[in-house]
Amino acid sequence: MLLLYIKRSHGPRCSVSDLLKHRYLIFSGTSLQNCRMMTMSLIWGVLVAVCCCLWLITGIRRRHPGEPPLDNGPLPYLGCALQFGANPLKFLRAKQKKVGNIFTCKIVGKYVHFLTNPFSFHTVMRHGKHFDWKKFHFTTAAKVFGHRSIDPNDGNTTENMHQTFIKTLQGDALHSLTENMMENLQHVLKPSVPPQENPAPWVTDGLYSFCYRVMFEAGYLTLFGKELNSNKDLQKQKAQRAIYLENFKEFDKIFPALVAGLPIHVFKSAYNAREKLAEALLHKNLQKRDKISELVTLRMFLNDTQSTFDDMEKAKTHLAVLWAAQANTIPATFWSLFQTIRSPEALKAAVEEVHNVLKNAGQKVSFDGKPIVLTQAQLNDMPVLDSIIKESIRLSSASMNVRAAKEDFILHLEDGSYSIRKDDVIALYPPLVHLDPEIYPDPLTFKYNRYLDENGKTKTNFYCNGLKLKYYYLPFGSGLTKCPGRIFAIYEIKEFLILMLSYFELELVDRQPRCPPLDQSRAGLGILPPTNDIDFRYRLKCL
Ligand code: HEM
Repeated sequence: MLLLYIKRSHGPRCSVSDLLKHRYLIFSGTSLQNCRMMTMSLIWGVLVAVCCCLWLITGIRRRHPGEPPLDNGPLPYLGCALQFGANPLKFLRAKQKKVGNIFTCKIVGKYVHFLTNPFSFHTVMRHGKHFDWKKFHFTTAAKVFGHRSIDPNDGNTTENMHQTFIKTLQGDALHSLTENMMENLQHVLKPSVPPQENPAPWVTDGLYSFCYRVMFEAGYLTLFGKELNSNKDLQKQKAQRAIYLENFKEFDKIFPALVAGLPIHVFKSAYNAREKLAEALLHKNLQKRDKISELVTLRMFLNDTQSTFDDMEKAKTHLAVLWAAQANTIPATFWSLFQTIRSPEALKAAVEEVHNVLKNAGQKVSFDGKPIVLTQAQLNDMPVLDSIIKESIRLSSASMNVRAAKEDFILHLEDGSYSIRKDDVIALYPPLVHLDPEIYPDPLTFKYNRYLDENGKTKTNFYCNGLKLKYYYLPFGSGLTKCPGRIFAIYEIKEFLILMLSYFELELVDRQPRCPPLDQSRAGLGILPPTNDIDFRYRLKCL
């Protein structure tokens, strides 16, 4: 390169002395450049070293006396996030074995104290005054759904949403919710006219996509009602629901990334899907619908009277409710049906129970247009279905119960007292309990009767180290933050199972399929879906 440069700039007629002179100039220029580069490298080196020192001094937390064992993790800011995210259960079990029942891990800039002893859980509930359980939820909801803060302290609304949820998802409000869900499930599942062929032809589908579609459509109608004059243009409404379903799937797919803090604008199609879902929930559109649930009716009123949200923000708070109602129920429904069809004993016991309950309730399974109606008392009297649903949820649940410390305080536990700093997070990870072989022998095996006692009633006695446990089942959270929709969730899954077992013959295409792995990318968010779908066949029974 150098020779080429000399040749080009001086031509063939330059003398040797010219060349030597020029070479000197070139080399002195190069060494000047080298010198400059070295200086720059030195400055960068010093800067990096200073940053590392600063990180070591201020970024790495030192464990104070009385605090739980601390792991800052290998990476600045992320801390242990990657190891934890790869397999939370394996990571927490390994740490528990190494350092004991309580330890602190830095995860994405936060210091999280993991409590692994289920006998300590009730003491966490007792320390309620030291915790802010709303802060994390409020910040996450605003980030993910795109409305301003729903924390009354931030001045955008005075609604106490938790109270709204309790009032409209429990107690008397449950009657109409369960009744409407049963009606809507039959609307979505059953053909409007009896099958022409006898027996009806088999239909093959993915079990997860089937459960997703049916539960989403029926759940949507139950919360947000049907369009006024809904008898007109049924096909158009069906197509509309299919669009909502696709948008919901698109948005839900990137939910873990949004919770992790990535901005939604990175995901263009998910962003569009969210905006379209919200548009359908604008108050002016909801006002065109009939039989809206008490929950949504009250929330519309409170949004209009107690908040400063604009129309789109109000719609986005309804979208948050839609997500909470669907995102866990759908995979829980899939696992409940999959485990039932897969286990011959479970199927036999479930079919028998459904048959008896319908018979005692005087309900006939038919295509004569008369829907099945069951009361809450009748739904409550189904311990086999209860046990199947509970066991399916135990095996697939990976929610995380988190609370933020409002102040520095001492946490008194069964096995010692620990200093907790303001803004630290306390976390319970229920799979540690749900998959503990001491509490649930052979924990990875589905046992349909695990929650049945010797009299066939619901079993509530579970032990660890010979001691009876209070907290042996936590998929719905715990204490003040417990899911307000948990009773309704079990009712709707039960209703779905009753209808599937009553109206359809069901079989898995592969008669002995392997249980699909859980999609761990959603660990911490609730019920994990399968990583792959399972093919099944169904056809209407000859009634
Ligand atoms: C199998 C189904 C379900 C599971 C496993 C589940 C689980 C959970 C969990 C773990 C939480 C957070 C609790 C915490 O922070 O500690 C929660 C919150 C919530 N769930 Fe559910 N849920 C289910 C179904 C439902 C349904 C059907 C509805 C409504 C129709 C619902 C409505 C809500 C609401 C509104 C919240 C937020 C409560 C608040 O912030 O005050 N959930 N759920």
